Amino acid sequence: MKTVTIHAPATIANLVCGFDVLGMALNDPQDIMTISLRDEPGLVIEHSDGYQLPTEPEKNVAGAALLSMLEEAGQGIGFHLIIDKQIKPGSGLGSSAASSAGAVVGANYLLERPFSNEDLVRFAMAGEKLASGVKHADNIAPCIYGGVTLIRSIFPLDIVSLNAPDLYVTVVHPQIEVKTSDARQILRKDVKLKDAIRQWGNIAGLVAGIMKVDYDLIGRSLEDVIIEPVRSILIPGFDAVKKLSKECGALGGGISGSGPSIFMLSREQKVARQVEIVMKDIYTQAGIDFKTYVTTINSGGVRVVGA
Ligand code: HSE
Repeated sequence: MKTVTIHAPATIANLVCGFDVLGMALNDPQDIMTISLRDEPGLVIEHSDGYQLPTEPEKNVAGAALLSMLEEAGQGIGFHLIIDKQIKPGSGLGSSAASSAGAVVGANYLLERPFSNEDLVRFAMAGEKLASGVKHADNIAPCIYGGVTLIRSIFPLDIVSLNAPDLYVTVVHPQIEVKTSDARQILRKDVKLKDAIRQWGNIAGLVAGIMKVDYDLIGRSLEDVIIEPVRSILIPGFDAVKKLSKECGALGGGISGSGPSIFMLSREQKVARQVEIVMKDIYTQAGIDFKTYVTTINSGGVRVVGA
């Protein structure tokens, strides 16, 4: 098989309190890519979407991930990648991770799988470095593994897949762009001990809540006292979305990755749909364009089709 199609899911990094260490894959939206083995070395990248992203491999996140892979796979290999982005760049839904992770999973398949999932996360992080200036795996890991992942460490990589309970995810993407690099730049470099204690209590609570399928504990732990107070200022309507969604019965939620998307988790689909109505009302009244999704957790990660 010399050509395969790849479906790479959107992801929600941080999951509110777990900055850079927790992430979740979604069933909707997903990027679609086609990757082929070339008869000659080198990368050719094309986009069939309208986003005008760079196609030079060194400047393209999928290209950077594939180049990192080729350093270990051998320089004599070549790939042709066509990307159709359904996850809008700059949305906070792991758009760059989907490109990077999807590309390396597809390439690995074409090479008859010489690399482990952990290797693929390592390669795909080169794409994240290009996009945001730093390596982080909280979009890449859930994108490749599916479900909810804890990234205990990236140097060395230590990824823990958590069994995710049934949850509905409502996402609103106000159509403004927040660059991850900018959203990282504005963060305070120091954290007060009392805030750190509260934060690691929440992270531990969220992980325990997910593993014990304790929805109340999940809801109580969806609190971020370090990152959200700084970043939420960049997102119009943030406080109203959170407050009114919880009033509808959502467990909780917050900024998706570095924003501007906001996500809320619910136990029941009808609550998730009610949350969507609330989100739509808020942005319609504010006169800001938006897109919403009501979806569930993707358990399989990047999917290779046509193989
Ligand atoms: N953990 C990263 C951040 C995710 O919040 O900057 C970016 O999608």
